[in-house]
Amino acid sequence: MVSPKHLFFLVLLNAVNAQQSPEVQRRISDAIKKAANQSNPDYTAFVNPFIGTDNDGDVCPGASIPFGMVKFSTDMTGYAPAGYVTDPTRFIRGISPLHDSGTGSSLGTYGNFEVMPLVCPNGFQTCTTRLNDRQRHRKRNTDDASPGYFSQTLDNDIKMEATSTRRAGLERFTFPSNSKPYFVIDLANDLPVSFAGGTLNIDPVKGRITIGGSYGSSFGPGRYNYNAFACYDLLEGGKQALDEYGVWTGDNFGLDAKGLGQTHLNLSRNLFGGVYESGALFSYKGTPQTITLRVGISFISTDQACANAESEVGSSTFEQILAQSKSLWNDRLKKIELDLAGTPANVTEMFYSSLYRASLTPNNATGEAQAEFFGTKSFYFDSLYCSWDTFRTFFPLMSLHSPVEFAQIVDTYIDGWRKLGWMPECRANNLPGWTQGGSSGDNIVSHFAIYYHNEAARLGIDLNELYSALLADGDINPPEWNTLGRQVNVYKQFGFVPFAVLDTSSTGRQTREGSRTLEYAFEDFGIRQVALLLGKTDDEARYTNRSLFYRNVWDPSIESDGFKGFMQKRFSNGTFSFQDPKNCSPKDNNDSRACSLQSNNVNGFYESSSWEYSWYVPHDTGHLIELMGGNDTFISRLDHFFDAGYYLAGNEPSFQTPIGYHYANQPARSVDRVRQVVFDNFDIIPAGLPGNDDQAAMGSLLAFHLLGLYPVPSTSRLLILSPFTPKYTIHNSFLNSSTTVTVKGFDPKSVQRTIPQGAAAYVQNVTVNGKPVESRCHFDFYDVFRLGGEVVIEVTADKDAANNCGGSLPESLSTGGFVTIR
Ligand SMILES: *[C@@H]1O[C@H](CO)[C@@H](O)[C@H](O)[C@H]1NC(C)=O
Ligand SMILES: *[C@@H]1O[C@H](CO)[C@@H](O)[C@H](O)[C@H]1NC(C)=O
Ligand SMILES: *[C@@H]1O[C@H](CO)[C@@H](O)[C@H](O)[C@H]1NC(C)=O
Ligand SMILES: *[C@@H]1O[C@H](CO)[C@@H](O)[C@H](O)[C@H]1NC(C)=O
Ligand SMILES: *[C@@H]1O[C@H](CO)[C@@H](O)[C@H](O)[C@H]1NC(C)=O
Ligand SMILES: *[C@@H]1O[C@H](CO)[C@@H](O)[C@H](O)[C@H]1NC(C)=O
Ligand SMILES: *[C@@H]1O[C@H](CO)[C@@H](O)[C@H](O)[C@H]1NC(C)=O
Ligand SMILES: *[C@@H]1O[C@H](CO)[C@@H](O)[C@H](O)[C@H]1NC(C)=O
Ligand SMILES: *[C@@H]1O[C@H](CO)[C@@H](O)[C@H](O)[C@H]1NC(C)=O
Ligand SMILES: *[C@@H]1O[C@H](CO)[C@@H](O)[C@H](O)[C@H]1NC(C)=O
Repeated sequence: MVSPKHLFFLVLLNAVNAQQSPEVQRRISDAIKKAANQSNPDYTAFVNPFIGTDNDGDVCPGASIPFGMVKFSTDMTGYAPAGYVTDPTRFIRGISPLHDSGTGSSLGTYGNFEVMPLVCPNGFQTCTTRLNDRQRHRKRNTDDASPGYFSQTLDNDIKMEATSTRRAGLERFTFPSNSKPYFVIDLANDLPVSFAGGTLNIDPVKGRITIGGSYGSSFGPGRYNYNAFACYDLLEGGKQALDEYGVWTGDNFGLDAKGLGQTHLNLSRNLFGGVYESGALFSYKGTPQTITLRVGISFISTDQACANAESEVGSSTFEQILAQSKSLWNDRLKKIELDLAGTPANVTEMFYSSLYRASLTPNNATGEAQAEFFGTKSFYFDSLYCSWDTFRTFFPLMSLHSPVEFAQIVDTYIDGWRKLGWMPECRANNLPGWTQGGSSGDNIVSHFAIYYHNEAARLGIDLNELYSALLADGDINPPEWNTLGRQVNVYKQFGFVPFAVLDTSSTGRQTREGSRTLEYAFEDFGIRQVALLLGKTDDEARYTNRSLFYRNVWDPSIESDGFKGFMQKRFSNGTFSFQDPKNCSPKDNNDSRACSLQSNNVNGFYESSSWEYSWYVPHDTGHLIELMGGNDTFISRLDHFFDAGYYLAGNEPSFQTPIGYHYANQPARSVDRVRQVVFDNFDIIPAGLPGNDDQAAMGSLLAFHLLGLYPVPSTSRLLILSPFTPKYTIHNSFLNSSTTVTVKGFDPKSVQRTIPQGAAAYVQNVTVNGKPVESRCHFDFYDVFRLGGEVVIEVTADKDAANNCGGSLPESLSTGGFVTIR
């Protein structure tokens, strides 16, 4: 999901917006410099959690363990889906334990159970509990974060810090001297303002507040609710003494009531709507400077929330929990080791920050599944938001180094089919979310099957079940395909998703017919790959045929900027419905045009123009070249696409486009293009992402660009580019393999937007374990990272000499590719 509209403006504002302490960047830069000579570096020291917290990156810089269900962050007013943003004009309403990272929901997601520290000089009854009364600005340029740690200081000098385990954590508050600490705990306010009833109980003897209720989706039908519960322990094992306590309710129109000594709230949904304000208020005896709260979270019950806090935090100190989290992060981050001495500092910082976010989500809620998933024996991950974003690079990156974690998430996808009949697409907040392109989960589980079919059983995955789940998505039309599956009835009947079709048996929003056809076709390719793997010959033929349905939305007659042939939506009688290919591109100045999920998006494409989606045939680019008029036209059309400004770096369907030159046998041009894309769109600053991170879809794309690789999803093929680092090693501890890629002739001067004359960067020769590879444009996971060993990529400054594959082109279905599965 992207929100392209205000990108440029926000980038310019960033200098004013950077709210992290200048200490953060200084610390990271120092660590990178020092690490050049360290043998066992602390990789967490290279991570900048604030990248993507501006420019609508929607990254959560909060404290989390890898895949943590709990992510502590502050919640701010205005557009802030992840809670935190850098904009200093926003107000902070509290710090809370549940967040997602990098999702583009306009509503925001989670933010339940926030705590706000207060000073109330005139006592309990005068405390500013209501949202608008308690909100405060930050103390400028003091925000801090590192893997496992988050801190922010309010403009009244109260410092808030947090660290976490999977389902629990500690919040530490430091008050100015001589102030009596007060706290609000909020029952009824979450970021999407979705409270649908709940209860709160104060046990003053135990010093425990239990709280829980029903809340709504951040990106799905508003009629569904999920349950969430928290358990706050207030006494730090007896080191802190409670003074006053009670409950409160409020609104903006006169209601500001407090019940000193009352211990119970039981509130129902406000059917009239609007913000609901209610919670607990309590204070501590004396004027202690620091107060530590222990928080447990559960999606099952308050009892389980308390048990999670007991078992995961117990009586550990803040420093102990932080050290434990940091160590988990180091284990994740060292799966890919860069040559720290030879890599430009910005590359190191961008790379490890990306790798960090690529393990921040989805949220591991195993043991916490509710509703249809309640009691499941499978792993359970929340926030799969959205598969359309993550199948292209996020899971392929994981597949290189973390098959165990990948298999657990694949288990969740298959379990979704078991429980609901189709695999999840944009499931989040424990609820179904809106489908974007179809059942993109197909390309996630098929990628897993292609990479790990030999080890699937040991990884806990039954390939036959995986295949059944794929066939359900591909063949069975759900009655309602806004949240699960696809509109396959009409797609199969017509060979494309027709515009304005009479569908008498299923319901869904009748838009995006062009892009849905293109995505359905690639999903069919994923199914075809697994059919081939499992020897299901009939299915393989059927799905191979369907994966070529992209041709049915190609209108050869459309011309734009002198280029002929574009993808277009089409009526059921076969007539194309003309839409200007520039509509919804960055060059479209029409602000009233709907381009996303809106019902009045009549353009035929999702979050893209036809100029952009017309490149989207990752499995058959060879034939697309023919459709577009041959290699020369294809190349000049690609150049024009970028030069004229139709390319949207932050949009997932465009991920593979800069490498399109490979398919026309001009790989050196892809190298140039990727350098440009990286330097135009990514940086180490809060605005350093081109829009939403999309659950690190963007971060993992950047990681691949920096490593000089690009994965073709649902295949084991990787396209070869020019690394931004002289050397790196990828460890796959499940396969017991380590692969070191060395760039022979690496020139740090080539790591800039335009590779200067004379700087070696173009791929001349690639060897794997001493043997030259057949083509310098692509190689296969099974020949490289699966085996482990030494890869040498020799680069040259002679662009012309390197501007061909020196062997076969990357594969395409129509030109005889993808005949076998490895
Ligand atoms: C690292 O070691 C090299 C020699 O091996 C030396 O030239 C360089 O100054 C050292 N760098 C730092 C940051 O200590
Ligand atoms: C809350 O009130 C409802 C009725 O409004 C009641 O059914 C429910 O049991 C109460 N819950 C608790 C925990 O007191
Ligand atoms: C590294 O990042 C800083 C901060 O954005 C920027 O000023 C600098 O130009 C970058 N350097 C390189 C080599 O990219
Ligand atoms: C998820 O949590 C379960 C239960 O603690 C654990 O077994 C599993 O390894 C975790 N997986 C990841 C990827 O965090
Ligand atoms: C796909 O199958 C249909 C129906 O059998 C056939 O008409 C069509 O030519 C096939 N398409 C391709 C690309 O093989
Ligand atoms: C197909 O249907 C559309 C929409 O009803 C109509 O505009 C077009 O003329 C039809 N084409 C043919 C060939 O009948
Ligand atoms: C802008 O887009 C809207 C919605 O598609 C359309 O009705 C309107 O005619 C367009 N305006 C211009 C100037 O093209
Ligand atoms: C494009 O070039 C490649 C390699 O040079 C060649 O194999 C292929 O046939 C060409 N494609 C077209 C459509 O001309
Ligand atoms: C990796 O090594 C361990 C320990 O030697 C062994 O148990 C395991 O089977 C190996 N894994 C694979 C995939 O070969
Ligand atoms: C590539 O490297 C191999 C192994 O060093 C060598 O045999 C081969 O000649 C090289 N090819 C080119 C084109 O440089």
